[in-house]
This record gives sequence, C-alpha cells and structure tokens, in this order.
Amino acid sequence: MNNTIKDKDLVLISTPKRRYITRVEKGKSFFTKQGVLKFNDIIGQEFGTKVDTHYVLKPSLNDFILYGLKRETQIIYPKESGQIILKLDLANGMKVFECGTGSGALSLFLARAIEPDGVLFTYEKEKVFYQNAKMNIENAGSGKNIKFFNHDIEKGIDEKDFDAAFVDLKEPHKYIEWLRTILKKGSVLGMLVPTTNQVSAILKKCEKHFFDIQIIEVLMREYIPNPTRLRPKDIMVGHTGYLVFAR
Ligand SMILES: C[S@@+](CC[C@H](N)C(=O)[O-])C[C@H]1O[C@@H](n2cnc3c(N)ncnc32)[C@H](O)[C@@H]1O
Repeated sequence: MNNTIKDKDLVLISTPKRRYITRVEKGKSFFTKQGVLKFNDIIGQEFGTKVDTHYVLKPSLNDFILYGLKRETQIIYPKESGQIILKLDLANGMKVFECGTGSGALSLFLARAIEPDGVLFTYEKEKVFYQNAKMNIENAGSGKNIKFFNHDIEKGIDEKDFDAAFVDLKEPHKYIEWLRTILKKGSVLGMLVPTTNQVSAILKKCEKHFFDIQIIEVLMREYIPNPTRLRPKDIMVGHTGYLVFAR
C-alpha cells in the first residue's frame, strides 16, 4: 500500500489535545489550537510524519467515524460495530440487509466486512439522512459494494434471501416477523436498542420467530497511556445501547 501523502488525501491530524480529519489541499493550511499546518509541508511525505506538534496519519475507519463523519442522527459506535460484525459472522460475498442507514456509520463497517464481492443493501426513509450518509460514505472512500435506498421499509422491499440483517430503529419489534421472511433460514438478525423496555418488546416477538437469542452490552474503558501513572480515563461512555442477536 502506498504510504505517501498526496493532494486530496484524507488525513488524520493528531495533536496532544485533539484529533481532526481533513482533506489535503495544495497551497492551503489547516488551523488547530496547537498552530498551523501547511499542506505543502506534508505533500510527498510519508503518513506518520510529524510537523511541529502535528502528527499526520492515515485515518482508520474508527478514526473516520469518530472524527470525520457528519452526524445527522445517532450513530452506532465502533465499539458495538466490532461485535456486530462478529455476531453476524460477516465475510466476503455475503448479502446483508441494514435499516436505517442513519449517518452511515455502521454501513461503513458492514460494507468493509463483506467486500469485495458482498453487497450491503441499506434502507433509509428520510431523504436528508440518506443524502448525508451517501456523502459520508463517499468521503470515507467507500460505497462500491453498497446499494442505498431512500425508502421506508414499512412499504416492504423487493429484495430477499439475505445472509444477515441488522436494524437500528426505534421500534424494531414491529418488524421481527417480516425480517424473518427476508432472511435465509438460520441467518442472524441483529438489533440495537437503547432501553431495556425495547429489549423486552423484541424478546416477546422473537419467541415465536427466532431462536438462539443473545443480549449483550459492550462496555469499553479507556486508559491514559502514562507508564508511571497508568489508570483509566476519568470519563467514559456509560451507555450506548443493548445489542440483541437471534437466528
Ligand atoms: C439511529 S438511526 C441509524 C444510525 C445508523 N445505524 C448509523 O450508525 O449511522 C435510525 C435511522 O432509521 C431511520 N428509519 C426509521 N424507521 C425507518 C423505516 N421504517 N424505514 C427506513 N428507515 C427508517 C431513521 O430515519 C433514522 O435515520
């Protein structure tokens, strides 16, 4: 993989205080609280280069979602996305259903896990969110294996025989019966909901239509990388949501 920074590349600028994602623009500069980074000083250098207090790095998908994605909706955080990929057992070639697309945060991970031959079918009913998600995914340099639909799944969809499905909606329990009909027999369905009441509603519906039900919460505690005073950060994300998986 080429490691040279070029004009128009997406870069992660890491300073001791903050991280930023931006696109390199020949002749222009990027201003941070630590000072100014001239893009001409980094074009032609390798990713990993340090200019004053600015490290210039290749953004990972995790970086892009945390610092580069334009959020128009709540998003699924990378800490959950990793588990989702694992539990849906995603691999190259799979046909995957997602609703709603939201800001496209989860779509980016799902699509990467099934590329190059797999296809993600993602549905979003709100035009503004659909357009924003498409823009985010394009900015991340992804989307070749994603089919976007500005469509309300209440109306049904033309596709079926999915190898896996994930839904991030307010009332996923309403769609459980229907989701079974679009999935291949034995395939995994995943859902994320923020409250236990919603989990209960899902369980009541799942009893009849799914088995092998698992409910998990992903708690992540980050540490301050100081070798002499190693301890967790004071602030952590206390709650995002519950993940429910069933086959
Ligand atoms: C919480 S957001 C999804 C965020 C997304 N998982 C992400 O990581 O960016 C939920 C989305 O579902 C969409 N939605 C809700 N009901 C829908 C339906 N019946 N059909 C299609 N989209 C729907 C909403 O408009 C909203 O954008």
